[in-house]
Amino acid sequence: MEKFVIHGGKPLRGEVTVSGAKNAAVAIVAATILCDEQCILENVPEISDIAICVKILKEMGAAVSFTGKNTLKVDTRQIKNPVVPYELARSMRASSYFIGTLLGRFHDASVPTPGGCDLGDRPIDQHIKAFNALGAKNENANGVIRVYADHLVGAQIYFDFNTVGGTINAIFAAVKADGLTIIENAAKEPHIVDLANFLNSMGADIRGAGTDVIKIRGTKFLKGITYAIIPDQIEAGTYMVAAAATHGDVLVRNVIPKHLESITAKLRMIGATVDEFDESVRVYVEKPLVKTNVKTLPHPGFPTDMQPQLSALLSICEGTSFVTDDIFDNRFRYAGELRRMGADISIEGKVAVIQGVKELTGAPVKATDLRAGAALIIAGLCASGITEIEDIYHIERGYEQIDEKLRKLGADIRRVYYNNAEIALSV
Ligand code: EPU
Repeated sequence: MEKFVIHGGKPLRGEVTVSGAKNAAVAIVAATILCDEQCILENVPEISDIAICVKILKEMGAAVSFTGKNTLKVDTRQIKNPVVPYELARSMRASSYFIGTLLGRFHDASVPTPGGCDLGDRPIDQHIKAFNALGAKNENANGVIRVYADHLVGAQIYFDFNTVGGTINAIFAAVKADGLTIIENAAKEPHIVDLANFLNSMGADIRGAGTDVIKIRGTKFLKGITYAIIPDQIEAGTYMVAAAATHGDVLVRNVIPKHLESITAKLRMIGATVDEFDESVRVYVEKPLVKTNVKTLPHPGFPTDMQPQLSALLSICEGTSFVTDDIFDNRFRYAGELRRMGADISIEGKVAVIQGVKELTGAPVKATDLRAGAALIIAGLCASGITEIEDIYHIERGYEQIDEKLRKLGADIRRVYYNNAEIALSV
């Protein structure tokens, strides 16, 4: 097992380069199943969720290899068995994307119920509703979801609420359906636009991605292409917040500033300075940081995936902040860990009430999920003393070399191997 050990209190200074977007990459890697030739994907982040996607493709018979650190060559023509192995599906939410892509290509998909971060109940009823609208049937037996169809036929799909995964899966099946599909109340996140750009470059006909209504005309043949994945909005936001929390001065490179607007706006309200350039943003602090209120919303609102990190920052901002997040049932599981570090944070339903304290103090804590882990790193970086974060495998699902990138910014963060059995015996 590994943990991060952080000696806090050092302002982050320097430049950091953001990697490819996790949530675009997991969708685009799965989308290669729809391609009739070989694809080269660039700017693929080296994170464990991508390693799982690659394993799933290989288990099904695809030829997949990294030809450079962040370049992936994928040829899915050899896939014969459209079945995702249980253990792999269980370890990642994005395994649900294999339902849409396998259904699109083979008209038959068997995928165990997807896992992923524990943020409360995460059903996929809207995905199934979309598949059914396109003419597919579904059954659920022994923990495996099977979706199959003789023909997929374009249809109107209306989502009851905003769903990123549902929108992506609907696009996958619709790309291979006969005729026109219209997705209403579609999600608008940047990774949906990136996925549509990828599929359109292969020859798909998808219009309106990034708006509420997406229109897709089914296409028989999708050609092989080389495609570079967009930078990760959430990784960028995490470094921006870390820069502010440590009262540092960081240039975050390889970003699309437009994707960061909601994060930039909140940081400015708190009192940080954010300078925007073409492909980078600089964050620094010149005055005391103060409270703000936040409500997470689908894009272009403030992203739920940044809520824990911002809450860590607000825990040392002057005044009382109210943070509302009702996108998932429970995205406040980090609160107890932050309290161990001296934060004054209480959860009232879907609202975190955060009373800013003068400083946090280092403590042993556990990452309860990916973004909770990022929040604890930020807390550890600005706390006095030593913070030890266990269960960092959650963090490595979505952040490429986060410890190395932070060390380059001057952080004192080490990766330490430990043995749970030894700890248990010594207690
Ligand atoms: N929901 C349903 N039924 C469905 C689909 C969703 O009830 O059929 C509910 C969910 O339980 C949740 C809400 O609708 O309460 C929104 O879920 P959504 O489908 O939008 O989320 P997702 O596709 O499961 C993706 C990201 C998450 C990110 C959310 C929201 C990926 C692989 N995951 O999840 O990313 O928080 O969208 O933006 O793209 C992360 O990166 O840390 C992460 C959790």
